Amino acid sequence: MFMPSINSSALFARKNIMPVINADKPGNNLRHPASKGARIFCDSAVRADIEPLLKAGLIHGITTNPTLLKKSGAKSWDEAKGIMKDLCALLNPFPVSLELTELTEEKMVAQASELGALGTNAVIKVPAGGYPAVVPGGDPFTGFKVIRRLWEKGIKTNVTLIFNTTQAFWAANAGATYISPFLGRVPDYINKNDDPAKAAGNSLYSIGEKGVVAGDRVANSEYVAAGGAIKDSGARLIFEIATVFANYQITTEILAASIRNPVQLTECLLAGADILTVPANVLQTVADHPLSDEGMKGFLADSKAFST
Ligand code: E4P
Repeated sequence: MFMPSINSSALFARKNIMPVINADKPGNNLRHPASKGARIFCDSAVRADIEPLLKAGLIHGITTNPTLLKKSGAKSWDEAKGIMKDLCALLNPFPVSLELTELTEEKMVAQASELGALGTNAVIKVPAGGYPAVVPGGDPFTGFKVIRRLWEKGIKTNVTLIFNTTQAFWAANAGATYISPFLGRVPDYINKNDDPAKAAGNSLYSIGEKGVVAGDRVANSEYVAAGGAIKDSGARLIFEIATVFANYQITTEILAASIRNPVQLTECLLAGADILTVPANVLQTVADHPLSDEGMKGFLADSKAFST
């Protein structure tokens, strides 16, 4: 399990300047014990997944993306917009991240207005980078320019597809409201692409290798190359970002994404994430534990002694 080094006073100081997440209830003499706790979002565009969690007060927002919209049945842009609008109405006033699909600055800024019109709680999801895989020779600063333009217009953004700490820092400097490091995809990628004949983490970090340009471009930390466990590499990314944001008292919220299991969920909390966006199926696994179940069975059996 990922073990971060001890929390610094800067991390605590940053918490003081972050918003209250669980407000006190007027008339209730119990103060809310987790007023600055981490929030849980649902990573889904399926109403049936989201609604029960929302009604139970378990989630405080959702994140969507084109893949999730496709999964929820959208077959055209109009249908996708219909789903996004419905989700904004369902979640209001909680934030709903809606992702841009355009690839150039002007078109992205225009599409941000189109998506923003779907709900007052819409947050525009801007992919980091310049998307060379789909826009060969494009402007590498496209994402950051769009974030800056939207910040100037007073539009909230969630910068998605964050895989290293400098991307997160740049996004914050450009004015991002949230940044989404995809922690689950980091170990997925290393596990799939590492060359077993080389040092661990070689697919992400080309230490000691000459001319590995692709490796350099995706490097996020020397953590694995220096002996850190591959399974902890995503949490390490969150920890790096949380530390940098604390060092500079940055209030952009760290929205940990691409969470695969309850262990990663705990690791995000250890590492200092502000928000965790979690698929509904993973959320369903966190409430229970085999020992909770077994314990309850025992208590129930013993409680029978009082029933006559
Ligand atoms: C975040 O906002 C994304 O929707 C997300 O978590 C994607 O994760 P994936 O790696 O499961 O696609």
